[in-house]
Amino acid sequence: SDQFCDAGVVYGEPACGISSSSSPSKILIKGGTVVNAHKQEVADVYVEDGIIVAVKPNIKVGDHVTVLDATGKFVMPGGIDPHTHLSLEFKSIKAVDDFFTGQAAALAGGTTMHIDFVLPVDGSLTAGFEAYEEKAKKSCMDYGFHMAVTKWDEVVSKEMEIMVKEKGINSFKFFLAYKGAVMISDEILLEGFKKCKSLGALAMVHAENGDAVYEGQKRMIELGITGPEGHALSRPPLLEGEATSRAIRLAGFVNIPLYVVHVMSIDAVEEIARARKAGQRVIGEPIAAGLALDDSGIWDPDFVTAAKQEPALLSFYFVLYVMSPPIRASGHDKALQAALSTGVLQLVGTDHCSFNSTQKALGIDDFQKIPNGVNGIEERMHLVWDIMVESGQISVTDYVRVTSTECARIFNIYPRKGAISPGSDADIIILNPNATVEITARSHHGRSDTNVYEGRRGKGKVEVTIAGGRIVWENDELKVVPGSGKYVELPPFSYLYDGIDKAEAKYLSSLQAPVKRFKSTT
Ligand code: URP
Ligand code: ZN
Ligand code: ZN
Ligand code: ZN
Repeated sequence: SDQFCDAGVVYGEPACGISSSSSPSKILIKGGTVVNAHKQEVADVYVEDGIIVAVKPNIKVGDHVTVLDATGKFVMPGGIDPHTHLSLEFKSIKAVDDFFTGQAAALAGGTTMHIDFVLPVDGSLTAGFEAYEEKAKKSCMDYGFHMAVTKWDEVVSKEMEIMVKEKGINSFKFFLAYKGAVMISDEILLEGFKKCKSLGALAMVHAENGDAVYEGQKRMIELGITGPEGHALSRPPLLEGEATSRAIRLAGFVNIPLYVVHVMSIDAVEEIARARKAGQRVIGEPIAAGLALDDSGIWDPDFVTAAKQEPALLSFYFVLYVMSPPIRASGHDKALQAALSTGVLQLVGTDHCSFNSTQKALGIDDFQKIPNGVNGIEERMHLVWDIMVESGQISVTDYVRVTSTECARIFNIYPRKGAISPGSDADIIILNPNATVEITARSHHGRSDTNVYEGRRGKGKVEVTIAGGRIVWENDELKVVPGSGKYVELPPFSYLYDGIDKAEAKYLSSLQAPVKRFKSTT
């Protein structure tokens, strides 16, 4: 036998004598550098039945264990994407990636969990939840849900409570944009914030001033700018800055933590930085597209040359990058990277919301009809590695923090997720820092016929993905099973709520002095 028993423990021998040699449930990852958000060390990782059992040097195993050699490579927690829209419908146009294809793509790129946004059905949270439960049945990796709140009444208020107490939802998203659709007023935002506070749920905002965006769109149409360039021009960074500032100040007024999704501009970063400096609990989420792209890349010189002969081609190309808030001019990307590297922004999402070129082209002559969204669920881990780690802007441990651990902490599932540690779920990647990756629609695993990162090459490749204790990505091959992904309930009162009540008590007692002064003078 191959057993050596130095510490008295030999992992992986079937106790009852029943062979499990064909079962992938026992895995030893040997000789890699294990990276967690707080440290890195050379160690082996032993996994059994979907759980990490041991992390230490020189683990001995018996037979019937699949051994992966990770020498010279990084062994890290699988990525957690805090922001996706699988199976989303935008004005009745359906995103191409569903919970199976989107997750398969994610796994091929080293992401092993995502949190998707449930959209209410006609304002009903309950109906929305049921619809997403159905959509998610074909899942092949673990997932959680956020919930959007798009109107306000007693029913919605009660439903928020049910979502938190019975359905495993601990965050609610409020849209300050998309006027006439999902946008809400400041009055509803305040109601929602108060309800979040009572439930220990995290409030999230899509921060663009929707009234002003509407005005900007009318302006573009009046000027005859109806092509895709009108999209970005109608919603400039200052409208993102305004809404970010407003949401932050109102969250401060109610005294709740706030999570700003898809931070895309310097204007928004500055508001978040100011609030954090003043001691407010504000989380900022850049997305892969914001870090990796700027609008100059969109004007690819070869393409522009071709498009000079055929102008329709140019707007067709531009249309692919339309998302909200828009991909900004060069400089915003660098500022977002800097903010991520210095902790002003804390974790990276994707806003993965993928459409194919024919769907995108529906708005070619009217930018308001372009379905909003770009891909990223498969590319995020590689992009963040290449842009942030390869460039020396963050450490390998920080890479784990911004792609996985911080998301697990914020949504209150750490250390079950986001850690390579005994007892944690076996969601693990092996990344080879010396290999290179090229992103192209020909080889990506999502369903779209285009990729906004087409042709981009970068260093660092996820060579193995283990999800729920199963090897699902190895040798450039996916082995995924629909229905194998689990719904992860997210409990309320994350660390962001710790001490909020103390701050509240201090605020209330600070009101006493002026009240007394006022009474003594009347
Ligand atoms: O363009 C985007 N972001 N589409 C998805 C919906 C949203 O606002 O997050
Ligand atoms: Zn043996
Ligand atoms: Zn949004
Ligand atoms: Zn989104």
